[in-house]
Amino acid sequence: MYMPVILGTAREGRQSEKAAKFVLVELEKAGLETELVDVRDFLIGHTDNTGTTELARKWAEKMKRADGLIIVSPEYNHSFPGELKLMLDALYQEYMNKPIGICGVSAGPLGGARAVEQLRLVSVEFHLVPIREAVYFSEINELFEENGEIKDAAYSNRVKKLLDELIWYAKALKTEREKEYRKE
Ligand SMILES: Cc1cc2nc3c(=O)[nH]c(=O)nc-3n(C[C@H](O)[C@H](O)[C@H](O)COP(=O)(O)O)c2cc1C
Repeated sequence: MYMPVILGTAREGRQSEKAAKFVLVELEKAGLETELVDVRDFLIGHTDNTGTTELARKWAEKMKRADGLIIVSPEYNHSFPGELKLMLDALYQEYMNKPIGICGVSAGPLGGARAVEQLRLVSVEFHLVPIREAVYFSEINELFEENGEIKDAAYSNRVKKLLDELIWYAKALKTEREKEYRKE
């Protein structure tokens, strides 16, 4: 099962990278095939949903293969970063009927909860299936040791709960997608 982890901000000095790397390792521990997909490698200057650019093709290849995805995103002014929206808008068909797990990040106590809610709304329009479980990385500046280790061990269980639900949906939706494919 292949589930990429999307890091949703290109901001210089971004703290969310630590959370994304932590989530990535938890996926690897769970035996999933995964990789970090950095929005910095998919920076699109303006909306382009033609699917013709090199970046769009590269992104489409990953999403075609994916059984689902996880987005790790900070909250910027109660939403998610614009560069992430431009990247998501570059594709459509490739997301169809795949589950999405969302992890929010913030410097404050709410862990990016409002960005998570907004991403769920947007996901539905792509025919992605947003799951109920989420992980909220709050107080991100204090959450990790210098060596990248997380200080609060409870986060492993939170990611595990998200993965349990995500994998359940990934299996169920894959079965139905394959049926649809056979009908064609
Ligand atoms: C443009 C901008 C807007 C932000 N807006 C919010 C916000 O609405 N709510 C919030 O909790 N934190 C907000 N933050 C602070 C982030 O929580 C903080 O930068 C945190 O480290 C996660 O983002 P990062 O990965 O860019 O570091 C904002 C940060 C930036 C740069």
